[in-house]
Amino acid sequence: FSLKKYNTFGIDAKAKQFKAIHSKEELANLLKNHDDIFILGGGSNMLLTKDIEKLVVHIDIKGIEVIDTNEDFVWIRANAGENWHHFVLYCIENGYGGIENLSLIPGNVGTTPIQNIGAYGVEIKDTFFSCEAMEIATQKLVTFNKENCAFGYRESVFKNELKNQYIITSVTFKLTKRNHLLNTSYGAIETELVSKNISLPTLKDISNAVINIRKSKLPDPKELGNSGSFFKNPIIPLTVYQKATIDYPKMPHYKVSETKVKVPAGWLIEQAGFKGKRFGDAGIHKDQALVLVNYGNATGEEILAISRDIQKTIFNKFGISIETEVNII
Ligand code: EPU
Repeated sequence: FSLKKYNTFGIDAKAKQFKAIHSKEELANLLKNHDDIFILGGGSNMLLTKDIEKLVVHIDIKGIEVIDTNEDFVWIRANAGENWHHFVLYCIENGYGGIENLSLIPGNVGTTPIQNIGAYGVEIKDTFFSCEAMEIATQKLVTFNKENCAFGYRESVFKNELKNQYIITSVTFKLTKRNHLLNTSYGAIETELVSKNISLPTLKDISNAVINIRKSKLPDPKELGNSGSFFKNPIIPLTVYQKATIDYPKMPHYKVSETKVKVPAGWLIEQAGFKGKRFGDAGIHKDQALVLVNYGNATGEEILAISRDIQKTIFNKFGISIETEVNII
Protein backbone atom coordinates (compact mmCIF):
# COMPACT_ATOMS: atom_id res chain seq x y z
CA PHE A 1 0.00 0.00 0.00
CA SER A 2 1.61 3.30 -1.08
CA LEU A 3 1.70 6.10 1.50
CA LYS A 4 2.46 8.76 -1.14
CA LYS A 5 -0.95 10.42 -0.73
CA TYR A 6 -0.79 10.25 3.06
CA ASN A 7 2.37 12.30 3.68
CA THR A 8 2.72 15.90 2.54
CA PHE A 9 6.31 15.26 1.40
CA GLY A 10 4.79 12.91 -1.19
CA ILE A 11 7.29 10.13 -0.47
CA ASP A 12 6.34 6.85 -2.10
CA ALA A 13 7.05 4.63 0.91
CA LYS A 14 4.98 1.45 1.31
CA ALA A 15 3.01 0.19 4.28
CA LYS A 16 2.63 -3.54 4.95
CA GLN A 17 -1.06 -2.89 5.68
CA PHE A 18 -3.19 0.22 5.99
CA LYS A 19 -6.38 0.96 7.86
CA ALA A 20 -8.33 4.18 8.33
CA ILE A 21 -10.11 4.49 11.69
CA HIS A 22 -13.33 6.51 12.06
CA SER A 23 -14.25 6.16 15.74
CA LYS A 24 -12.71 5.65 19.15
CA GLU A 25 -14.45 2.25 19.45
CA GLU A 26 -12.89 1.12 16.20
CA LEU A 27 -9.51 2.36 17.41
CA ALA A 28 -9.80 0.55 20.77
CA ASN A 29 -10.73 -2.69 19.00
CA LEU A 30 -7.85 -2.46 16.64
CA LEU A 31 -5.33 -1.72 19.40
CA LYS A 32 -6.59 -4.73 21.35
CA ASN A 33 -5.86 -7.03 18.45
CA HIS A 34 -2.61 -5.64 17.06
CA ASP A 35 0.57 -4.74 18.82
CA ASP A 36 2.75 -3.70 15.92
CA ILE A 37 1.18 -0.54 14.56
CA PHE A 38 2.27 2.80 13.19
CA ILE A 39 0.04 5.85 13.76
CA LEU A 40 -0.52 8.31 10.94
CA GLY A 41 -2.39 11.59 11.35
CA GLY A 42 -2.22 14.23 8.64
CA GLY A 43 1.26 13.11 7.61
CA SER A 44 2.40 16.72 7.53
CA ASN A 45 5.35 16.54 9.87
CA MET A 46 7.20 13.39 8.90
CA LEU A 47 9.84 12.21 6.48
CA LEU A 48 9.45 8.56 5.53
CA THR A 49 12.91 7.16 4.79
CA LYS A 50 11.86 3.52 4.47
CA ASP A 51 8.87 1.24 4.01
CA ILE A 52 6.80 0.57 7.11
CA GLU A 53 6.64 -3.15 7.85
CA LYS A 54 3.65 -2.65 10.15
CA LEU A 55 -0.05 -1.96 10.09
CA VAL A 56 -0.35 1.77 9.42
CA VAL A 57 -3.36 3.23 11.23
CA HIS A 58 -4.73 6.44 9.78
CA ILE A 59 -6.72 8.42 12.38
CA ASP A 60 -9.75 9.76 10.54
CA ILE A 61 -12.19 10.52 13.37
CA LYS A 62 -14.31 13.51 12.35
CA GLY A 63 -16.58 15.95 14.19
CA ILE A 64 -16.60 19.43 15.72
CA GLU A 65 -18.72 20.34 18.73
CA VAL A 66 -19.17 23.35 21.02
CA ILE A 67 -19.12 21.88 24.50
CA ASP A 68 -19.54 25.01 26.61
CA THR A 69 -19.92 28.73 26.20
CA ASN A 70 -20.32 31.94 28.19
CA GLU A 71 -20.38 35.62 27.28
CA ASP A 72 -16.70 35.80 26.47
CA PHE A 73 -15.50 32.33 25.59
CA VAL A 74 -16.41 29.15 23.80
CA TRP A 75 -14.99 25.70 24.48
CA ILE A 76 -14.92 23.84 21.21
CA ARG A 77 -13.85 20.26 20.65
CA ALA A 78 -12.57 18.92 17.37
CA ASN A 79 -11.89 15.26 16.74
CA ALA A 80 -8.38 14.24 15.73
CA GLY A 81 -9.11 13.56 12.06
CA GLU A 82 -10.49 17.02 11.27
CA ASN A 83 -8.32 18.94 8.84
CA TRP A 84 -6.66 21.76 10.80
CA HIS A 85 -7.26 24.55 8.31
CA HIS A 86 -10.93 23.58 7.87
CA PHE A 87 -11.32 23.77 11.64
CA VAL A 88 -9.67 27.23 11.70
CA LEU A 89 -12.07 28.45 8.99
CA TYR A 90 -15.07 26.96 10.83
CA CYS A 91 -14.08 28.89 13.97
CA ILE A 92 -13.59 32.14 12.05
CA GLU A 93 -17.00 31.79 10.36
CA ASN A 94 -18.60 31.40 13.77
CA GLY A 95 -16.72 34.38 15.24
CA TYR A 96 -14.47 32.34 17.54
CA GLY A 97 -11.04 33.91 17.83
CA GLY A 98 -7.57 32.75 18.80
CA ILE A 99 -6.34 30.43 16.05
CA GLU A 100 -6.71 32.68 12.98
CA ASN A 101 -2.92 33.26 12.90
CA LEU A 102 -2.53 29.52 12.45
CA SER A 103 -4.44 29.48 9.16
CA LEU A 104 -3.28 27.20 6.35
CA ILE A 105 -0.97 25.03 8.44
CA PRO A 106 -1.14 21.56 6.88
CA GLY A 107 -2.15 18.53 8.94
CA ASN A 108 -4.96 17.38 11.20
CA VAL A 109 -6.24 18.62 14.56
CA GLY A 110 -5.01 15.56 16.47
CA THR A 111 -1.36 16.20 15.75
CA THR A 112 -1.35 19.93 16.54
CA PRO A 113 -0.57 19.53 20.27
CA ILE A 114 2.25 17.04 19.67
CA GLN A 115 4.58 19.72 18.41
CA ASN A 116 2.66 22.75 19.69
CA ILE A 117 2.26 24.16 16.19
CA GLY A 118 2.94 27.86 15.87
CA ALA A 119 3.16 30.71 13.41
CA TYR A 120 2.97 34.51 13.24
CA GLY A 121 3.17 35.15 16.98
CA VAL A 122 0.71 32.45 18.10
CA GLU A 123 1.10 28.86 19.31
CA ILE A 124 -1.53 26.21 19.89
CA LYS A 125 -0.78 26.29 23.62
CA ASP A 126 -2.26 29.83 23.81
CA THR A 127 -5.82 28.55 23.23
CA PHE A 128 -5.40 24.86 24.06
CA PHE A 129 -7.76 23.78 26.85
CA SER A 130 -7.39 19.98 26.93
CA CYS A 131 -7.04 16.92 24.78
CA GLU A 132 -8.29 13.38 25.04
CA ALA A 133 -5.93 10.54 24.19
CA MET A 134 -6.09 6.76 24.16
CA GLU A 135 -3.33 4.88 25.90
CA ILE A 136 -2.08 2.38 23.34
CA ALA A 137 -1.26 -0.37 25.86
CA THR A 138 -4.60 -0.28 27.75
CA GLN A 139 -7.02 1.52 25.37
CA LYS A 140 -7.94 3.76 28.32
CA LEU A 141 -9.00 7.32 27.50
CA VAL A 142 -7.12 9.99 29.41
CA THR A 143 -7.69 13.75 29.47
CA PHE A 144 -4.61 15.98 29.44
CA ASN A 145 -4.88 19.61 30.49
CA LYS A 146 -2.46 22.29 29.35
CA GLU A 147 -0.04 21.73 32.22
CA ASN A 148 0.11 17.96 31.64
CA CYS A 149 1.16 18.60 28.04
CA ALA A 150 4.37 20.46 29.00
CA PHE A 151 4.30 22.63 25.90
CA GLY A 152 7.47 24.32 24.65
CA TYR A 153 8.74 25.65 21.34
CA ARG A 154 7.61 22.89 18.92
CA GLU A 155 7.61 20.53 21.94
CA SER A 156 5.21 18.68 24.21
CA VAL A 157 5.11 15.65 26.49
CA PHE A 158 3.88 13.62 23.48
CA LYS A 159 7.23 14.09 21.73
CA ASN A 160 9.20 13.32 24.88
CA GLU A 161 8.27 11.29 27.99
CA LEU A 162 5.06 9.92 26.47
CA LYS A 163 6.33 9.37 22.94
CA ASN A 164 4.48 6.53 21.15
CA GLN A 165 2.33 5.79 24.20
CA TYR A 166 -0.87 7.72 23.42
CA ILE A 167 -3.03 8.48 20.42
CA ILE A 168 -4.79 11.84 20.59
CA THR A 169 -8.47 11.43 19.74
CA SER A 170 -9.76 15.00 20.21
CA VAL A 171 -8.59 18.47 21.20
CA THR A 172 -10.61 21.17 23.02
CA PHE A 173 -9.79 24.83 22.54
CA LYS A 174 -10.92 27.82 24.57
CA LEU A 175 -11.58 30.56 22.04
CA THR A 176 -12.74 34.16 22.46
CA LYS A 177 -16.13 35.46 21.35
CA ARG A 178 -15.31 39.14 21.75
CA ASN A 179 -12.06 38.99 19.85
CA HIS A 180 -10.37 41.89 21.54
CA LEU A 181 -7.15 39.90 21.66
CA LEU A 182 -6.18 39.84 18.01
CA ASN A 183 -2.47 39.29 17.53
CA THR A 184 -1.09 41.48 14.75
CA SER A 185 2.35 41.87 16.32
CA TYR A 186 4.14 39.91 13.61
CA GLY A 187 5.66 42.44 11.19
CA ALA A 188 4.47 40.80 7.99
CA ILE A 189 0.83 40.73 9.21
CA GLU A 190 0.95 44.45 9.98
CA THR A 191 2.41 45.16 6.54
CA GLU A 192 -0.34 43.09 4.85
CA LEU A 193 -3.11 44.91 6.76
CA VAL A 194 -1.63 48.35 6.03
CA SER A 195 -1.33 47.51 2.33
CA LYS A 196 -5.06 46.65 2.32
CA ASN A 197 -5.95 49.78 4.31
CA ILE A 198 -7.40 47.72 7.15
CA SER A 199 -7.17 49.44 10.54
CA LEU A 200 -9.69 47.40 12.53
CA PRO A 201 -9.09 43.84 11.33
CA THR A 202 -11.62 41.06 11.71
CA LEU A 203 -10.66 37.42 12.30
CA LYS A 204 -11.12 36.85 8.59
CA ASP A 205 -8.80 39.78 7.72
CA ILE A 206 -6.04 38.31 9.86
CA SER A 207 -6.59 34.85 8.44
CA ASN A 208 -6.43 36.27 4.90
CA ALA A 209 -3.24 38.18 5.73
CA VAL A 210 -1.64 34.99 7.07
CA ILE A 211 -2.81 33.02 4.03
CA ASN A 212 -1.25 35.61 1.70
CA ILE A 213 2.05 35.62 3.61
CA ARG A 214 2.23 31.83 3.68
CA LYS A 215 1.36 31.54 -0.02
CA SER A 216 4.09 34.03 -0.91
CA LYS A 217 6.80 32.06 0.90
CA LEU A 218 5.76 28.51 1.60
CA PRO A 219 5.13 25.92 -1.11
CA ASP A 220 1.68 24.29 -1.23
CA PRO A 221 2.20 20.57 -0.46
CA LYS A 222 -0.39 19.73 -3.12
CA GLU A 223 1.89 21.25 -5.75
CA LEU A 224 5.33 20.62 -4.27
CA GLY A 225 5.94 17.98 -1.61
CA ASN A 226 7.19 19.44 1.69
CA SER A 227 6.71 19.34 5.42
CA GLY A 228 6.93 23.04 6.33
CA SER A 229 9.98 24.02 8.35
CA PHE A 230 12.32 21.05 8.25
CA PHE A 231 14.46 22.38 11.13
CA LYS A 232 13.73 24.20 14.36
CA ASN A 233 15.18 27.63 14.88
CA PRO A 234 18.08 26.93 17.25
CA ILE A 235 18.00 28.42 20.75
CA ILE A 236 21.62 29.04 21.73
CA PRO A 237 23.55 30.59 24.65
CA LEU A 238 24.15 34.30 24.22
CA THR A 239 27.90 33.62 24.43
CA VAL A 240 27.77 31.30 21.40
CA TYR A 241 25.79 33.92 19.51
CA GLN A 242 28.26 36.67 20.42
CA LYS A 243 31.14 34.51 19.24
CA ALA A 244 29.41 33.83 15.92
CA THR A 245 28.76 37.55 15.33
CA ILE A 246 32.51 38.27 15.29
CA ASP A 247 32.55 36.72 11.81
CA TYR A 248 28.85 37.24 10.97
CA PRO A 249 27.78 40.59 12.46
CA LYS A 250 24.48 40.56 10.51
CA MET A 251 23.18 37.31 12.06
CA PRO A 252 19.55 38.01 13.15
CA HIS A 253 18.39 36.91 16.61
CA TYR A 254 15.43 37.12 18.98
CA LYS A 255 15.86 37.29 22.72
CA VAL A 256 14.48 34.20 24.52
CA SER A 257 15.84 34.89 28.03
CA GLU A 258 18.69 36.82 29.66
CA THR A 259 21.16 34.14 28.59
CA LYS A 260 19.60 32.64 25.44
CA VAL A 261 18.73 33.77 21.93
CA LYS A 262 16.92 32.18 18.99
CA VAL A 263 18.50 32.42 15.55
CA PRO A 264 16.49 31.87 12.35
CA ALA A 265 17.77 28.65 10.82
CA GLY A 266 16.50 29.86 7.42
CA TRP A 267 19.07 32.66 7.55
CA LEU A 268 21.91 30.27 8.44
CA ILE A 269 20.93 27.91 5.61
CA GLU A 270 20.65 30.74 3.12
CA GLN A 271 24.04 32.17 4.13
CA ALA A 272 25.57 28.72 3.72
CA GLY A 273 24.46 28.83 0.08
CA PHE A 274 21.77 26.15 0.10
CA LYS A 275 18.69 28.22 -0.70
CA GLY A 276 17.09 27.15 -3.99
CA LYS A 277 19.58 24.33 -4.62
CA ARG A 278 18.31 21.15 -6.22
CA PHE A 279 19.86 17.67 -6.15
CA GLY A 280 17.88 15.38 -8.43
CA ASP A 281 14.26 15.57 -7.26
CA ALA A 282 15.14 16.82 -3.76
CA GLY A 283 16.01 20.37 -2.85
CA ILE A 284 15.82 23.48 -0.71
CA HIS A 285 12.93 25.84 -1.46
CA LYS A 286 13.81 29.01 -3.37
CA ASP A 287 11.78 31.39 -1.18
CA GLN A 288 12.26 29.85 2.28
CA ALA A 289 15.49 28.02 3.03
CA LEU A 290 13.98 26.26 6.06
CA VAL A 291 11.75 24.17 3.80
CA LEU A 292 13.07 21.08 2.00
CA VAL A 293 11.07 19.99 -1.04
CA ASN A 294 10.33 16.95 -3.17
CA TYR A 295 10.06 17.87 -6.86
CA GLY A 296 8.37 14.56 -7.68
CA ASN A 297 10.13 11.30 -7.06
CA ALA A 298 12.67 12.08 -4.35
CA THR A 299 13.15 9.35 -1.76
CA GLY A 300 13.17 10.01 1.96
CA GLU A 301 16.84 9.01 2.09
CA GLU A 302 17.74 11.65 -0.52
CA ILE A 303 16.01 14.38 1.48
CA LEU A 304 17.57 13.10 4.69
CA ALA A 305 21.04 13.20 3.09
CA ILE A 306 20.55 16.86 2.14
CA SER A 307 19.39 17.68 5.66
CA ARG A 308 22.50 16.02 7.15
CA ASP A 309 24.71 17.97 4.77
CA ILE A 310 22.99 21.21 5.80
CA GLN A 311 23.40 20.41 9.51
CA LYS A 312 27.11 19.62 9.08
CA THR A 313 27.80 22.70 6.98
CA ILE A 314 25.97 25.01 9.41
CA PHE A 315 27.88 23.58 12.35
CA ASN A 316 31.25 23.96 10.64
CA LYS A 317 30.51 27.47 9.45
CA PHE A 318 28.73 29.02 12.45
CA GLY A 319 29.40 26.64 15.37
CA ILE A 320 25.61 26.20 15.74
CA SER A 321 23.76 22.85 15.75
CA ILE A 322 20.32 22.77 14.15
CA GLU A 323 17.80 20.06 14.99
CA THR A 324 15.14 18.68 12.68
CA GLU A 325 11.57 19.70 13.42
CA VAL A 326 10.17 17.00 11.18
CA ASN A 327 9.89 13.45 12.52
CA ILE A 328 12.35 11.21 10.69
CA ILE A 329 10.87 7.72 10.25
N1 EPU B 1 15.32 33.91 6.75
C1 EPU B 1 16.29 34.03 5.78
N2 EPU B 1 16.23 33.23 4.68
C2 EPU B 1 15.25 32.33 4.50
C3 EPU B 1 14.26 32.19 5.48
C4 EPU B 1 14.31 32.98 6.60
O1 EPU B 1 17.20 34.85 5.90
O2 EPU B 1 15.28 31.65 3.46
C5 EPU B 1 15.38 34.76 7.96
C6 EPU B 1 14.91 36.17 7.76
O3 EPU B 1 15.83 36.99 8.46
C7 EPU B 1 13.58 36.25 8.44
C8 EPU B 1 13.74 35.23 9.54
O4 EPU B 1 14.59 34.23 8.97
O5 EPU B 1 13.34 37.51 8.95
C9 EPU B 1 12.43 34.58 9.96
O6 EPU B 1 11.79 34.03 8.81
P1 EPU B 1 10.23 33.70 8.81
O7 EPU B 1 9.48 34.84 9.39
O8 EPU B 1 9.88 33.23 7.46
O9 EPU B 1 10.09 32.57 9.87
P2 EPU B 1 10.96 31.27 10.18
O10 EPU B 1 11.72 31.52 11.43
O11 EPU B 1 11.72 30.88 8.98
C10 EPU B 1 9.06 30.27 11.70
C11 EPU B 1 8.36 28.94 11.85
C12 EPU B 1 7.32 28.77 10.74
C13 EPU B 1 6.31 29.91 10.85
C14 EPU B 1 7.07 31.25 10.74
C15 EPU B 1 6.19 32.43 10.96
C16 EPU B 1 9.92 27.43 12.92
C17 EPU B 1 10.81 26.25 12.75
N3 EPU B 1 9.30 27.85 11.82
O12 EPU B 1 9.80 30.21 10.47
O13 EPU B 1 6.64 27.54 10.96
O14 EPU B 1 5.33 29.83 9.84
O15 EPU B 1 8.11 31.31 11.75
O16 EPU B 1 5.85 32.54 12.32
O17 EPU B 1 9.79 27.94 14.03
C18 EPU B 1 6.59 25.21 10.38
O18 EPU B 1 6.85 24.99 11.56
O19 EPU B 1 6.44 24.29 9.57
C19 EPU B 1 6.51 26.61 9.95
C20 EPU B 1 6.34 26.93 8.66
